[in-house]
Amino acid sequence: MLHTTTGQTKGAGLEGVVVARSTITSIDGQQGILRYRGIDIKELVKKSNYEEVAYLLWRGKLPTKLELASFKRELAKYRTLPKDVLNLLKMTPKAANPMEVTRTTVSFESALPNKKGESFEDANMRKAFQLLAGIGSMVATYHRVRNGRRPVKPDSQLGHAGNFLYLLTAKKPDDYSEWAYDKVCILYGDHEMNASTFALRVTCSTLADIGGAVTSAIAALAGPLHGGANQMAMEMMEKIGSVRNVESFLDGELAAGNKIMGFGHRVYRTDDPRALILKDIARKFAEKDAETRKWLEIAERTEAVMWEKRKIKPNIEFYAGVVLKALGVPNDVMPAIFACNRIAGWVAHYFEQYADNRIIRPVSEYVGPVEQPYVPINDRS
Ligand SMILES: CC(C)(COP(=O)(O)OP(=O)(O)OC[C@H]1O[C@@H](n2cnc3c(N)ncnc32)[C@H](O)[C@@H]1OP(=O)(O)O)[C@@H](O)C(=O)NCCC(=O)NCCS
Repeated sequence: MLHTTTGQTKGAGLEGVVVARSTITSIDGQQGILRYRGIDIKELVKKSNYEEVAYLLWRGKLPTKLELASFKRELAKYRTLPKDVLNLLKMTPKAANPMEVTRTTVSFESALPNKKGESFEDANMRKAFQLLAGIGSMVATYHRVRNGRRPVKPDSQLGHAGNFLYLLTAKKPDDYSEWAYDKVCILYGDHEMNASTFALRVTCSTLADIGGAVTSAIAALAGPLHGGANQMAMEMMEKIGSVRNVESFLDGELAAGNKIMGFGHRVYRTDDPRALILKDIARKFAEKDAETRKWLEIAERTEAVMWEKRKIKPNIEFYAGVVLKALGVPNDVMPAIFACNRIAGWVAHYFEQYADNRIIRPVSEYVGPVEQPYVPINDRS
């Protein structure tokens, strides 16, 4: 148990601690409702695309047609990576981890000198567009160059989702794949005060630049308890291999006290609404693709057994693995997909924190030895 300086008790891991006032995203964990700026995620997935949602997260309202067109034009300007960034990706060892490469590349790009006369605030706004448009290009380009393939130039006719799939595979995506990936992007867009967003807000609170804050966020996102879980969930399903093996596999893991990746959540006490949407999308892929059918069967059986044995439900990462696999995303690229799209929320949180900032500086309770004598180096054992 933690406690406040006034003696109030709090759960470990800052459970239940309110660390900011925000108008961006709200979660009703009891009812399984997620809203961006007050609009239900289910409605946004049905009626909007990622660019509209990013605009909503940044500006607090859905864009008009004109505003959306200008927002998309601005993004298209930054989708092609600067030469220095491209060179860095080409020089990066082929065996590097894509999420770590993304973190390093974001940090490198934000260290490039500002434009002449550009203020700190103007540079942050430019970098916000650069990050929203560019992280997907970094991830896709690194995947190509590590496999000895030529990077693909963005297509101005495609938007955020279509361009990512095109840059990754060099093939124009079919309509369903583009639509499905756009929905994945929306669902990853923001999620209130998760670990990476908190890391970003802490960094912003020192008045660091947005590139540095996003670098912190990606570092926090990379762990298996957060954004690394989609890859681990997919790899677990591969290890299970067949629907027949699900129960014995889970029995073994649970008996060993291991967490099942893609299950559980700090906030949801019922279905994670993002998991339900992704399961539907995976089902549509499964109707026409035998390979996805196999993963989906394993996934659905895993969900049923986890509920039966532990009453724990899947989170976004579980079915994201199945959908991303159907879209041709390699397992080790899956965590970086989270970063490509959570960037919309991170930017919104950066500007919200910046606009009403006080440095985030909590306290710790010292539980170590008190008043130890100093031992000179020659006397130490
Ligand atoms: C998401 C997560 C980090 C939340 O952690 P948390 O809020 O600290 O939840 P807790 O670890 O306190 O979980 C509460 C109980 O459920 C169990 N539990 C939670 N998630 C579990 C999982 N994925 N597999 C097995 N048991 C799990 C815990 O062991 C704990 O049991 P106990 O009370 O008997 O000790 C955690 O559920 C997890 O590690 N999930 C797997 C990783 C993952 O999918 N991350 C992506 C999140 S979107």
